[in-house]
Amino acid sequence: MNKEFKYQNKRIFYRISGIGNPVVLIHGFGEDGNIWNNQVEILKDKFRLIVPDLPGSGNSEMIDDMSMEGMADLVKAIIDQEASPAAGKRATLIGHSMGGYITLAFAEKYPGYLNSFGLFHSTAYADSEEKKASRQKGIEFTREHGVFAFLKATLPNLFSQQTREERPEMINELVRASNNFSAPAIVSYYEAMMKRPDRTHMLQKATVPVLFIMGKNDTIIPMEDVLAQSHLPGKSYIYIFLNSGHMGMLEEKEKCKEILEKFLLEIDETTTNI
Ligand code: MLT
Repeated sequence: MNKEFKYQNKRIFYRISGIGNPVVLIHGFGEDGNIWNNQVEILKDKFRLIVPDLPGSGNSEMIDDMSMEGMADLVKAIIDQEASPAAGKRATLIGHSMGGYITLAFAEKYPGYLNSFGLFHSTAYADSEEKKASRQKGIEFTREHGVFAFLKATLPNLFSQQTREERPEMINELVRASNNFSAPAIVSYYEAMMKRPDRTHMLQKATVPVLFIMGKNDTIIPMEDVLAQSHLPGKSYIYIFLNSGHMGMLEEKEKCKEILEKFLLEIDETTTNI
């Protein structure tokens, strides 16, 4: 079911399906909640899936505070509507890349809401100076050439070389779907990612299980960086997509379903909801 509500007077869109413990799937940069469609189809038999379009993506309007923390507040507002922890349901948040940065901000602000969380091709590290400089160039390119030209040039880099060669149509589809982004939304995501702090402490002090999913050929969030932080939580689940870049949910969708289902079922068995 699709839902819309007003958050700080802006239209926010999300999808909700299934029955069970709440699982929030948060998409990354240049995408919307549809990126999780394959996984939702399978997981909705066992879980209550909440899949927002982040502000400025898909059918959701931008909000005043587009920081990772501001977007984490919005995710909390959606959970409050659909699965309040007061009703005894803690949620699992799984965030793809930028969605993972939001997940970490959420874990910092609202730890009592979480049963577990997952970083899906994501990292607790802040941007390096080099990364900030390259984002700044991206902002300038977007302002000069337009947002679609920027996304058309950059989105293919999210995929492995093998995917680019063998499945160009899947990549073209993502590029086509990105044609409704506005330049202000893309610029504010980049600015917010540049400003986000290092949150490795959130892994060090995690009291809930943490899932790490990485792509062997991911050039955006290198596997080595994720491996270097995956030992920090008390309990980690670690998976590597051997044939993926940054988009395992599309590049290895069957494997992705398996991993998420296994993790979520195990969390259900081993954690007690309040
Ligand atoms: C994403 O996929 O959300 C972004 O590529 C993340 C990033 O640029 O750090």
